[in-house]
Amino acid sequence: MAKDSLTVTDNRTGKTYEFPIENGTIRALDLRQMKAAPDDFGLMTYNPAFTNTASCKSRITFIDGDKGILNYRGYPIEQLAEHSTYLETAYLILHGELPSKAEYGEWTHNITHHTMVHENIKELMVGFRYDAHPMGMLGSTVAALSTFYPEAKNVRDADCRRDQIFRLMAKITTLAAFAYRHSQGLPYAYPDNDLSYCGNFLQMMFKRGGRYEVSPVLERALEVLFILHADHEQNCSTSAMRGVGSSEADPYSATAAAIAALYGPLHGGANEMVLRMLREIGSIERIPAFIEEVKTSGGDVRLMGFGHRVYKNFDPRATIIKKMAEQVFQVTGRNPLLDMALELERIALSDEYFIKRKLYPNVDFYSGLIYQAMGFPVDMFPVLFAIPRVSGWLAQWDEMLDDKDQKIARPRQVYLGAGRRDYVSLERR
Ligand code: CMC
Repeated sequence: MAKDSLTVTDNRTGKTYEFPIENGTIRALDLRQMKAAPDDFGLMTYNPAFTNTASCKSRITFIDGDKGILNYRGYPIEQLAEHSTYLETAYLILHGELPSKAEYGEWTHNITHHTMVHENIKELMVGFRYDAHPMGMLGSTVAALSTFYPEAKNVRDADCRRDQIFRLMAKITTLAAFAYRHSQGLPYAYPDNDLSYCGNFLQMMFKRGGRYEVSPVLERALEVLFILHADHEQNCSTSAMRGVGSSEADPYSATAAAIAALYGPLHGGANEMVLRMLREIGSIERIPAFIEEVKTSGGDVRLMGFGHRVYKNFDPRATIIKKMAEQVFQVTGRNPLLDMALELERIALSDEYFIKRKLYPNVDFYSGLIYQAMGFPVDMFPVLFAIPRVSGWLAQWDEMLDDKDQKIARPRQVYLGAGRRDYVSLERR
């Protein structure tokens, strides 16, 4: 009869062990029973980059990478992108259920009324160089928020946690817009509480004196982009959030760590790199030569915006973004780089190198083209990824703190360095 367990024989000793299988996993700690000798530490798994390790149980986001499925709390991303708003989706991600009308109203009010930042934060931002990257400014100022709200370290207090969630969700847009305006030498624009989350962000970015009229098409496009980026289960930045949060650091410090992880070009920095890559290629005629360079570089030159650790068929977010691009371009005018992106995608998808490795356009391949058409400078792209991901990071952090299985994150290592040796004084070396 089938049994939910795994039987393993340790050929070093001939002993057989039986481990329970739960949710398609065995507990890594069970392996420690397997010892080659009584004083042996016990067997571990070696899993660089955690490619086959479930670090937590989660009820937030489900991904089936082979089928291209992404659900938040069970709701397909396609439905949320079509019908929901970013704030409603963020509520869902954080609370587990869609809000009632009253809950949605209260949630929106609470976030809207936390968008102001202390004036000293503004002073702090003034200290950055004129050409500081906005993602660096964002991470630093989010970390600095922990000094403004020292009570945030009470991470075991549910009410306190909720207050920091309002603050972070709200202030992230203000800090992001301030970072942009700093780089442009523009006076910082304060939040307008009468506008929607995305509408307010757009006015804080682009207001130039007088009233800023928010384009409904661009506002909706931003809502959809924010919905698509809100969470993506245990990726690099979320693992950073959980890892730092597991030491019971305050959520501002943990979010700053997550922002730092997202900054990298292999993660949230990829959207910026796609645009830089398209500009560097320069023309459609030069695409075949670039593809050749990618294929022969041994992994050094990558087709940015392609490939994913989990999606091996298509990235459902990329499909939605590609469709939406046309609507945005009707308002903004067609991004001239679109033709290059389409041709790059066409060539790559019919090339054996990319087919064999299951490399498809990911969320970052087309998002940058939309952001650019909307008027965002290229170095703001990772920031635009970070703003909505704050809801996912906070939901994962909150879930972790309530999870009785969790402890401070502390992986093991396989030590291959020198054995014990005696110190040699400088004169004798
Ligand atoms: N261009 C060319 N070759 C690639 C690419 C790419 N974009 N991505 C992977 N490969 C190759 C890689 O060289 C390797 O080839 P080989 O087997 O010959 O050594 C093979 O495909 C497997 O790559 P990997 O690095 O082991 O795959 P991974 O799952 O560790 O990496 C990835 C996933 C997203 C880091 C990678 O695909 C990549 O670097 N893509 C470009 C950066 C990018 O677009 N990142 C955004 C990801 S989506 C947004 C997010 O959630 O962060």
